[in-house]
Amino acid sequence: MPEARKLGFASFSAPPKGVLVVFCEEGLKFGRATKKALEASGDLVRRAAAADKFTGKSGSALEIVAPAGLSAPRLVVLGVGKPAKMRSQDFVKLGGAARGKTPNAATEATIIAEFAGGALRPEQAADIALGTQLRGYTWVLYKTKRKEGEEPPAKTAITIAVANPAAAEKAFAPCAGLVEGVMLARDLINEPANVLYPEEFARRCGSLKKLGVAVEVLDVPAMRKLGMNALLGVGQGSAHDSRMVVMRWNGGKKGAAPLAFIGKGVCFDTGGISIKSASGMEDMKGDMAGAAAVVGLMHALAARKARVNAVGAIGCVENMPDGKAQRPGDIVKSMSGQTIEIINTDAEGRLVLADVLWYVGEKYKPRFMIDLATLTGAIVVALGHENAGLFANDEKLAENLIRAGAETGEKVWRMPLAPEYDKIMDSKFADVKNAGERWGGAITAAQFVQRFVPDKIAWAHLDIAGTALHSPQTDINRTWSSGFGVRLLDALVANYYER
Ligand code: BES
Ligand code: MN
Ligand code: ZN
Repeated sequence: MPEARKLGFASFSAPPKGVLVVFCEEGLKFGRATKKALEASGDLVRRAAAADKFTGKSGSALEIVAPAGLSAPRLVVLGVGKPAKMRSQDFVKLGGAARGKTPNAATEATIIAEFAGGALRPEQAADIALGTQLRGYTWVLYKTKRKEGEEPPAKTAITIAVANPAAAEKAFAPCAGLVEGVMLARDLINEPANVLYPEEFARRCGSLKKLGVAVEVLDVPAMRKLGMNALLGVGQGSAHDSRMVVMRWNGGKKGAAPLAFIGKGVCFDTGGISIKSASGMEDMKGDMAGAAAVVGLMHALAARKARVNAVGAIGCVENMPDGKAQRPGDIVKSMSGQTIEIINTDAEGRLVLADVLWYVGEKYKPRFMIDLATLTGAIVVALGHENAGLFANDEKLAENLIRAGAETGEKVWRMPLAPEYDKIMDSKFADVKNAGERWGGAITAAQFVQRFVPDKIAWAHLDIAGTALHSPQTDINRTWSSGFGVRLLDALVANYYER
């Protein structure tokens, strides 16, 4: 669970505590408050910079241990180059880099939020603070011993020195819940499937209640009554019963159509009877990353009291081979009434999405529906780990998602939908089949999912198989699962749907 934050803002005039991080522009240029903080060290920085050929280029750093004249155990000078065009996400990354240069063993660190041109704005200082928190996350719950060089959990208390601490604190307020939401998602994804099975996943969603989120859990009989046989078929081979969780945050106008977020929550995907090969199968504990992102997002929205109505719905199942498991050739009737021929039991995520999307679409008539799913290996082949696949039936929604992706750095790349691809999913014996041919596998998966979006609802599908697992190691993520989707969708809501 998210740790209490060890983060605060202080004024430039307060004496810095612990490791000292300062920013430097190209040409070894510092701001006024920074110069003052470094004053007692005389020409130390100038000499060290000359010795190291450090000039303040963006991405470079100068590190001085036990700097003479200063009380700091370590001084870190981070180059920011010529920072005229820095965007919000660049400040987030800068905060992450600053945190990365602070040894985990340090109990305290102070970052002076100032460039040569002057104090950073409160939002920029808040972005730096956000970056330090995202970077500080490690997942060591089951490490009882630490090997040499293995990172201990980040316990460093971080102070950001700013011109106006109250203003920075205010700017950071919405980020606090966002940090918790990202960490909640990361924790859920990292947790192994013997601990996080559908019932336990549903139980953990209960933590959102304290933020004012209504949390409803549907068990197997409840889903059977609704006719959710596509979802239930996936879970029927598991010793763990399936669950659907519906989370509602009502921060908008009473009765206004909600924004809806749907997540694939396959707590473990063995492939079922169409069993996967052994190599790398352990990664399939993360096949619930879409659901985790939805839960993290709902946490973030509620924590900052977002002025929207939002529904988060996740389908939690475990896909196992068993005497009771679903077979290839089986035909199930989905909640929508459409019958589905099971060709491959490893194409299970789309079966879960089919029923949850239909349920949410019919029940809540949302303004839009966005689903997140680690749906296909094919999207990893197509886009690697840097962009999630975006499929949409609505131009405006797609455009807003692409923009939110560029703003946060959680990027999405538009993929096509077309009748020619859709046709591939027609079944010989039922209305639709759950697996087509090998080629264009991410697209045909999306075509399948689209058949379960009620008419006229704007919908987008994010295939996050490449971005949510084996996430790139960056300035703001040092864990296997970055929590992809939480920051993207929080920004989407804040920038395009909340005003
Ligand atoms: N969970 C997998 C997709 C996946 C692969 C996620 C790699 C993360 C990393 C999904 O359920 C799956 O098995 N998809 C199949 C579909 C195929 C059988 C039509 C795939 O991609 O091979
Ligand atoms: Mn699968
Ligand atoms: Zn799967």
